[in-house]
Amino acid sequence: MNEKINSMKEELAKDIENTHSMKELADLKVKYLGKKGLVTELTSNMKELSIEERKELGKLSNEIRTQVTDSLNQLEAKFQEEELQKKLEKDTIDISLPSEKIKRGSRHPFNRIIEDVEDFFVSMGYDVVDGPELETDENCFQRLNVPLGHPARDAQDTFYIDTEYLLRTQTSSVQARTMQENQDKTPIRMICPGKVYRRDDDATHSHQFGQVEGLVIDKNVSLADLKGTLELFAKKMLGENTKVRFRPSFFPFTEPSVEVDVSCFKCGGKGCPLCKQTGWIEVLGAGMVHPNVLRMGGYDPDIWTGFAFGTGLDRFAMFRYAIPDIRYLYTNDIRFLEQFDRKDEENEIK
Ligand code: PHE
Repeated sequence: MNEKINSMKEELAKDIENTHSMKELADLKVKYLGKKGLVTELTSNMKELSIEERKELGKLSNEIRTQVTDSLNQLEAKFQEEELQKKLEKDTIDISLPSEKIKRGSRHPFNRIIEDVEDFFVSMGYDVVDGPELETDENCFQRLNVPLGHPARDAQDTFYIDTEYLLRTQTSSVQARTMQENQDKTPIRMICPGKVYRRDDDATHSHQFGQVEGLVIDKNVSLADLKGTLELFAKKMLGENTKVRFRPSFFPFTEPSVEVDVSCFKCGGKGCPLCKQTGWIEVLGAGMVHPNVLRMGGYDPDIWTGFAFGTGLDRFAMFRYAIPDIRYLYTNDIRFLEQFDRKDEENEIK
């Protein structure tokens, strides 16, 4: 028996030497450890042996089985290690190579303006509120003192959805909403930046544009408060030397109403093509909140006063970045948008 075992061991050593792949190793496992394998065969004549001999042989064959299994497992581990090594060598990453260029987007000029406007008013204690672009006729016009059939409706070519709903033509609709929603009728200090829609389309008008509305309601608010606020606002948006001028105007929801001009930031007021040689640029509509509007919003005009203003955001973007056509802001042309990467922020008028 010992002889048999020794010759099997020798054979195994040779076989191991000649095995070079996992596949060959699998064959080897079958050859030695399989059901009809050489190790199993050692015990094939068990039946003919005495109990003592059986015990002896059983023990011996178990030891052999363990030895053979260990050697083959070692070989398997060696192959796995080699394979991993090969894979690592093949897949080396050169960390010194330049990376693929990541395309970085930029903030839209329109959003930059909104952020500046918000920063300014939030620092003055205003809330930033939101309102829907699909609005009711009631909030967009009626509660702003523009009843059905009022001629002031002609000034805003409106996209009507049906007789009740429309695309808001002005963020002033959010004035009406804020007053109604403020159940306790406490003071209001809010701005609302957002998109508005009118049936216009040329180089300085788009069917869609941005406005920011402002509304302050409190006791003893005066036109001087409005002027002071807008003066600071204009300086923040267009430069420290900017002057503000009020001209009488008409809006159905303010009384008195004013049109607000700023001194031309390009020529400083001397006159140039941008300000059409006048030295002034119109940027805003504003006024003291009309008593009817206060009343419809649930505020007693004998107790409460307020001012409101509305300005086009696109114009500020066009001024600041010298954009010649308002429609560039809305056509998503990547060649246009790419010009507003971060380094451009240094050139902004502050
Ligand atoms: N909503 C007005 C417009 O779009 C602007 C405005 C707002 C005027 C608030 C006065 C007060 O023309």
